[in-house]
Amino acid sequence: MLYRLARPFLFALDPEFAHDLTIAGLRSAQRTPLLHACGATAGTPVRVMGIDFPNRVGLGAGLDKNGEAIDGLAALGFGFVEIGTVTPRPQPGNPKPRLFRLPERQAIINRMGFNNLGVEALIANVKKSRFAARSGKAGGGVLGINIGKNFDTPIASAARDYLACLERVYPFASYVTVNISSPNTQNLRQLQEEDELDALLGDLKQTQARLADRHGRYVPLALKIAPDLDADQIGAIAAALRRHRIDGVIATNTTVGRSGIEGSVHADEAGGLSGAPLFEKATAVVADLARALQGEIPIIGVGGILSGDQARAKLEAGAQLVQIYTGLIYRGPELVRECIKATAGFAHGSEGERG
Ligand SMILES: Cc1cc2nc3c(=O)[nH]c(=O)nc-3n(C[C@H](O)[C@H](O)[C@H](O)COP(=O)(O)O)c2cc1C
Repeated sequence: MLYRLARPFLFALDPEFAHDLTIAGLRSAQRTPLLHACGATAGTPVRVMGIDFPNRVGLGAGLDKNGEAIDGLAALGFGFVEIGTVTPRPQPGNPKPRLFRLPERQAIINRMGFNNLGVEALIANVKKSRFAARSGKAGGGVLGINIGKNFDTPIASAARDYLACLERVYPFASYVTVNISSPNTQNLRQLQEEDELDALLGDLKQTQARLADRHGRYVPLALKIAPDLDADQIGAIAAALRRHRIDGVIATNTTVGRSGIEGSVHADEAGGLSGAPLFEKATAVVADLARALQGEIPIIGVGGILSGDQARAKLEAGAQLVQIYTGLIYRGPELVRECIKATAGFAHGSEGERG
């Protein structure tokens, strides 16, 4: 209701300014008791990747890149919040403008380019979060931390950045997402190719095992993939995930395709497209992955969810959890509640939790 009043005001502003204003608003609000009073997380709990999620609906990465508004976002009812993508060192991202609304298509194009304050600043913010402090405890918050590489780290040395981030965020995360699918960092998506992926996943698993020993806690790893992959590529990724026993897969990131927005203002802007036009493509990737993974590795379905029915459709395609980003911009917190309701009580034919 409140969001319906606020939306015309926010949409009259430059998109990135509106985004920054919203994060600042949530940051202030999270210091007041009022927000916590309305922040009860509802829904049906579910165990995925060995973690107890209070419901199946999470916030997708990229909205809170620095973990500044974790408590404010959690108060919207999300079962889990993913922050990042964070890189080892701070970086400014691409020149502005780099974020475009396509309101008549309920879509966004962005080429932010991992603008973020670096991993140390993110950790300082996480330490201040009440939600994060409860993560890992019964009834507590589930915090995903999404990691990437700096734009000026050569792709051949990318593993170094991922491992450095993993090492730093490990003690603070419920799970860690390895983002190799942003279209806005040059050559990043090459890491999805067979040999590169094999090497990267091997390094990550080795480091994860060492960190699990050191911290006495196993933190699951999820791989986030692009929607612009054919069936063979998806099959090869699924095989690598199984071979390396990766704990989860997030499908999908934004698309470099432009189908469904022909003729729209901003359709020709470079970057990743998200929102309604991505739904079919991203859901098809979930279905392909589900077939290839045969229930061995859980899937988090993301891309184009603008209604509760669409959240449920991701589960029907084979996802265990869902995330939303662009839908939140267009529909506000009402969408979170709607998705929680639509996914509550869903049980996969074969479920059987896959801890
Ligand atoms: C402005 C913007 C920034 C994003 N930044 C990130 C990011 O830093 N890391 C990431 O893994 N995904 C990022 N994403 C992708 C989203 O997490 C999500 O995968 C994608 O937008 C599809 O979901 P949606 O249609 O619900 O938005 C970003 C998306 C948008 C719109």
